[in-house]
Amino acid sequence: MLDLWYKSAVIYCLDVETYMDADGDGIGDFEGLTARLDYLAGLGITCVWLMPFYPTPNRDNGYDVKDFYNVDPRLGTLGDFVEFTRQSNERGMRVIIDLVVNHTSIEHPWFQEACKSKDSKYRDFYVWADEKPEDAHKGVIFPGVQDSTWTYSEAAGAYYFHQFYEHQADLNVENPKVWQEIQKIMGFWLQLGVSGFRLDAAPFLVELKSAHDSRDEYAYLEDMRQFLSWRRGDAIILAEANVPMEAVPHYFGDGDKMQMLFNFMANQYLILALAREEVAPLIEGLKAPPEIPQVGQWAYFVRNHDELSLDKLSDEQQEEILTKFNQDKEKVWIYDRGIRRRFPPMVQGDPRRVRLAYSLMFTMPGTPVLFYGEEIGLGDDLSQDERNSIRPPMQWSGEPNAGFSTAPPDQLFRPVISDDQFGYKQLNVIDQRRDPSSLLNWMERAIRMRKECPEFGWGDWQMIGTGHPCVFAHRCDWRDGSVMAVHNLSREACTVTLNLKENGDRLIDLLGDRPYHQIEGVSHEVELDGYGYRWFRIGGYHL
Ligand code: NOJ
Repeated sequence: MLDLWYKSAVIYCLDVETYMDADGDGIGDFEGLTARLDYLAGLGITCVWLMPFYPTPNRDNGYDVKDFYNVDPRLGTLGDFVEFTRQSNERGMRVIIDLVVNHTSIEHPWFQEACKSKDSKYRDFYVWADEKPEDAHKGVIFPGVQDSTWTYSEAAGAYYFHQFYEHQADLNVENPKVWQEIQKIMGFWLQLGVSGFRLDAAPFLVELKSAHDSRDEYAYLEDMRQFLSWRRGDAIILAEANVPMEAVPHYFGDGDKMQMLFNFMANQYLILALAREEVAPLIEGLKAPPEIPQVGQWAYFVRNHDELSLDKLSDEQQEEILTKFNQDKEKVWIYDRGIRRRFPPMVQGDPRRVRLAYSLMFTMPGTPVLFYGEEIGLGDDLSQDERNSIRPPMQWSGEPNAGFSTAPPDQLFRPVISDDQFGYKQLNVIDQRRDPSSLLNWMERAIRMRKECPEFGWGDWQMIGTGHPCVFAHRCDWRDGSVMAVHNLSREACTVTLNLKENGDRLIDLLGDRPYHQIEGVSHEVELDGYGYRWFRIGGYHL
């Protein structure tokens, strides 16, 4: 029997480094994180996704790994990791971890050995050229920061290939020994108790890097999945693949490849819809993906740890988003495609707009993924380089260093936010916990309700006509249950009459931006405030 736990999951992504520092050295650690597990369980999280915590020179927030079989000493030990995983499980939370095997840090011993000699057994772990290929300037992933995909290594006397930063050398997936290692890495962490992986850079990983292999590149995904399921039947892979919609079937296969994919398409169109305050783009984004297998699942998010990529939108649409959200392109635009901000600062912290965005995320037909701090409306710090702007220390309290660390402030690995609106004195967990109307308490309620409505994660979904350009209504049906969510993307209040199939069904008010109000009789007229949202159960009983 397959265990499709991920269809009911509420995933929370965090970076150990930024979460909680227990030993007072200014860097978050596993001990600190473990002490916060009751907080996460209380919020209703069912699965924690850990960003890379492996030993690293940390030139790309840990996505530059130098040892796949260990924990970075700044964050703790393998023992601390196992303790954290066990304690998470005790509280009913699973753990998934970033699997970053498209590349290694150039400080990884494999790369170091590979450079030393052409005869090294690790030489063929990487991709080399004696001359710089003519197209070396093509395909750079971080334009503006990176200008080539081939860099000369003095030690190796050759150019090595890297799709990301030059300190991240691509592994050669055509080498079966590399795949054996990847499997060993997966097996190692599965054995230590993880429930799966967030597969970093999936399309780049499987891309064939030389012309030697004529294999279907996506077959690698099937191999990976097979190995995963053999080792642990309920483990999943959530792939990061911001690919054209035509490529999506290659990732899900017939249910024999990746279980989950992030829905980048829906994310970008959601942001456009929120900027325009109209539903048309959201509908376009949701309708774009092809059918996926029954065991497959989309992961929805508002923001993640990278830039808000708008690469699927036209230049005009990108400009429109910047203008409508009143953003200074000079400061926020990055890699020719995205915005290096969190969502609340993009809407000047307007609580109605923030809740609208997350209400949409929680009701999307898939699995919601939160990025740490989103539950309190954490801001960003544009003085930090590139994407580090959106990775500030977590704000636990109004105490020095936001309660994140007891180190002297100048020893924090990254400063806490202290501006007037998003600074830790104004915005933190402790204060929001005490305030019944806070975003934190709202998130907790929304997550609880989302869990009581499995239809959103499991069901078939369809749009419901509202006759209004700013109001999006959709229903999800699963087994005997049906739920519906109605969202008003515009600042103007309105009333819509919904076109439900069963005219006689009454609507049970579940959650909204207004006090609970049972709609009388079988009327399907729904009032919405500006940026208002309401979730209903259609027919049946509450709970
Ligand atoms: C995708 C990750 O999300 C990003 O943060 C990282 O820089 C690249 N992959 C390279 O690993």
